[in-house]
Formats: sequence, C-alpha cells, structure tokens
Amino acid sequence: MKICSIGAGYVGGPTMVVIAEQCPEIQVRVTDINQQRIDAWNSDQLPVYEPGLAETVKKLRGRNLSFTTDIDTAIQESDVIFLSVNTPTKQYGEGAGKASDLKYIVSAVERIAALATSDKIIVEKSTLPVCTANKLRAILASNPHQCHFEILSNPEFMAEGTAMQDLRHPDRILIGGEQTESGKQAIQTLVDVYAHWVPREKIITQNLWSSELSKLSANAFLAQRISSINALSALCECSGADVDEISRAIGADSRIGAKFLKSSVGFGGSCFKKDLLNLIYLCESFGLKESALYWQQVVDMNEHQKHRFARLILEKLFNTLSGKKIAIFGFAFKQDTNDTRESPAITVCQDLLKEQAFLSIYDPRVPETVIRTDLAGYPSDAIEVVSDPEQAARGSYAIVILTEGEPFISLNYKHLYTLMKRPTFLFDGRNGLDLDQIRSFGFNAYGIGKKR
Ligand code: NAD
Ligand code: UDX
Repeated sequence: MKICSIGAGYVGGPTMVVIAEQCPEIQVRVTDINQQRIDAWNSDQLPVYEPGLAETVKKLRGRNLSFTTDIDTAIQESDVIFLSVNTPTKQYGEGAGKASDLKYIVSAVERIAALATSDKIIVEKSTLPVCTANKLRAILASNPHQCHFEILSNPEFMAEGTAMQDLRHPDRILIGGEQTESGKQAIQTLVDVYAHWVPREKIITQNLWSSELSKLSANAFLAQRISSINALSALCECSGADVDEISRAIGADSRIGAKFLKSSVGFGGSCFKKDLLNLIYLCESFGLKESALYWQQVVDMNEHQKHRFARLILEKLFNTLSGKKIAIFGFAFKQDTNDTRESPAITVCQDLLKEQAFLSIYDPRVPETVIRTDLAGYPSDAIEVVSDPEQAARGSYAIVILTEGEPFISLNYKHLYTLMKRPTFLFDGRNGLDLDQIRSFGFNAYGIGKKR
C-alpha cells in the first residue's frame, strides 16, 4: 500500500512519520508546495520541533518514509491521500475573521481531481467545518478518468509538544465515512492501518458529519475548560482563594477530571481560537445565535485574560513602563514547541510595548526572526532577543514568564535577582514557580489567580 500526505506541517509531518514507523510495509510520502519546508524535512534541522521526532525521522528517511515537493507523482501513485494542509481563519470576504479559509484544501483536492488515474481514498486530516466532504466530493466529480473517490474524516487530536507520544498512544482514533458498501470498505482500509498499533476498541468509526463536527467540538470543550478556570482566577485574586487549590479540588471529582484546569495567561496555539471561531461561524450560519454567543464568550474570556495580565504588570510597576527593561521568559504558545501561532506572549508583549517598555526576550526554541515578525509594527529597537536568561534579567525591573515548563522553571532565580534593578518583580503567567520561594529571594512575585 502507498499513502501520502498533502501538507508537511505540524500535523502532516509527525502523523506520517508515526504511520511509517508503525507500518513498515506501507510506503509513506509527505508532500508540500513549500520547497523550503521539504528541504528542512530532508535535513538535520527539521521544520517542526517535537521531542522524539528527529530521531525517528532519521531512522525512517530513505526506508519507507520520504519528503518531496513532487505532489503530482504522489497523488498518482497513492491509494490513500491524507489532506493535512492548513485551514486558518479566513481574513477576507464572507466570514472574514471567523470562517475557515478552505482555499488550501480546495486547491489540493482540485489537484487530485485533475491528476488521479485510479480509485483513491481521500482522508480529511485537517480540521474542517462540518459538511466539507460534500464540497470535496463535488470537486472530485470533475475527474476526467471517472475514478471512484471515497472521502473519510479522520481528524487529528495530537497536541504540539507531545505529538509523538499522542500519535503512538492515542486516546482514540476517529474515522468517519459514508455508510454505503464502498464507504464501509474505505473505513475498514483505514482501520487496518491504525490497527497496526492502536487497540481496536480505541478506533471509533462513525458517520462523516459526526466525525467532522467532533473535532471542532473537542477543541471547543478543551478551550472552554481553560476559559472557565481563568474566569475563576480573577475571582481568586480578589478573594484570597488560590486557583491551583480550586483546580485540585474540582479536578478530584472524577466527573470533571484533573486535566486542562491549569489557570494561565490564556490559551494559545493554532487550533483553539481558530476552531472556536469556526464553530461560532457555523452556528451563526445555521441561525443559532445563542449557541454562537455561548462559544464566543470562551474566546472573549481568553482575550481578556491576556490583557488582564499585561495590565497587572503595568499596575504593579507603578503604572509606568516607559523605558523600563522587562525580561520575557518564553515566547512559544506552550512548552516543547517552536510554534508561536496565537501565543499569548504576542498579545502580552504588544501591550507592554504600547506602554513603551523595552523587552528582552528569551526563548531558546524560537528563532529571533519569528519573534520579530510576530511583533512587527512596534519599534524594533524596543525589543532584543537573547540566548541567555542572565542577559535578559540584567538591568531589568521584572521577569515575566509566558511559556510553561522547561527551560524556564528551573532557572536560578536567586541568582537572576542579583542582576536586576530594585524594586524587583516577577510575574508568572503559567503558575509554574513556588511564589513563596521566589519572594524569599527578594522578588515581589505575582501569579495568576494567586493572592495579591
Ligand atoms: P501547517 O501550517 O503547519 O502545515 C500545513 C502545510 O500545508 C504547510 O506546510 C503548507 O505549505 C502546506 N500546504 C498548503 N496548501 C498546500 C497544497 N495545496 N499542496 C501542498 N501543500 C500545501 O498546519 P498544521 O498545524 O500542520 O495544521 C494542519 C491542519 O491540521 C489544520 O487544519 C489544523 O487545524 C489541523 N490540526 C492541527 C493541529 C496542531 O496542533 N497544529 C492539531 C490537530 C489538527
Ligand atoms: C490542541 C488540542 O489539545 C489537541 O487535541 C488538538 O489536536 C490541537 O489543539 P495544542 O494547541 O497543540 O493542542 O496544545 P494544548 O496542549 O491543547 O494547549 C493549548 C494552549 O492551552 C496552550 O497555550 C497551553 O499553554 C494552554 N493550556 C493548556 C492552559 O493554559 N491550561 C491548561 O490546563 C492546558
């Protein structure tokens, strides 16, 4: 069997790598229109950082795994084609700011329709609005060879930073398809691929529309939990309650569960906001105003949380940041990734730059060019990007932590304090540090949902 992915990004890359790893007899091709990205996949500097990814790619490249821009040959030779292209929020025309921009998926499918000379299974791996398969089917009907195409929905639930672990040991695999004879056969073909390593009871098969909508719903539910705990964090700060204690108390209820209750400066990443906005747009399109407003509030709460954190910094630094140096620790949207899409750090840094602060940014995973692009439009001499946390801290009034986990939580804060200006502040936007200990070093320390 031969399979390929159209799209070699954060999803197309790692998912195909794990299929190639688990199914040695399947030839896996990962394709993209972006030559630079494909060159990077073929080099030692992969375009995606994920723990464990580089080692696996090294092992499999040249065996049953390849990366290429020759999309046409891949389409012609593959039995199963995964569509893993990006589906960002549309920025123009009808639905601007909310709807999914489907231009990449449409152009990939047009290419399949034009080139395919044999029957194929087309798998929606990208996150798509419900009923997209109807549109894809209409495009595929223009195929001059009258090949038969089965469309399956197989959304990806991996999270960045833990992609390899999530893909090797998924909670579930979801496969939606048409409930016709040929549809069921196609579903079985894909089930057989995953059954190489995923226990059969974790492979859920269902109708196409449920599967398409399940992915948007899952992300909306996860984002909703973060906005819910963040809404409570503000109340904790006024009342003396501690948000981590609230999380522990409510998370111990097995009906609620402990995950995704970590209060923070807000959620980021390329999925949650985009998928929520798409869900809102879908609700609006069907005239479901109240449902749309309900999910809109999850987005609004997240925007509020980012601005609220920036305002706290301003307020504690005596309402003036002009000309003050501030050390920013962490720019990626979460730990163990080089991805900054929708990172809360962008909004917080922008708010601080509006107050004319001077930012010294330390995040060893994120290249300077990416940080500067994300903060474009602000004076470039108000920003420095450094590779050493001491350099960021030296002469600054405050450390602001914006990405969770390592390498930021295990820095020597006692020592960093000695390099900084007085009075000295630390704002932990991820609640990863023991604030009492940080205070014992001399800092005025603040967390999210912590007593002020
Ligand atoms: P990405 O931007 O990292 O990768 C998409 C790739 O597709 C890019 O390299 C782009 O050049 C390529 N591409 C676009 N149009 C193409 C075409 N016509 N032919 C060939 N290549 C083309 O995006 P991503 O983060 O991998 O996300 C892809 C999809 O998966 C999105 O729908 C997203 O919502 C979904 N998803 C993402 C995550 C995540 O954590 N990033 C998780 C689950 C699902
Ligand atoms: C998300 C979904 O988790 C994943 O299932 C889906 O396939 C893609 O979208 P991702 O965006 O990669 O994955 O990361 P995730 O771990 O969900 O974190 C998203 C954001 O929420 C990050 O900014 C993270 O820091 C934040 N977060 C997460 C919190 O603030 N608190 C939490 O308790 C959990």
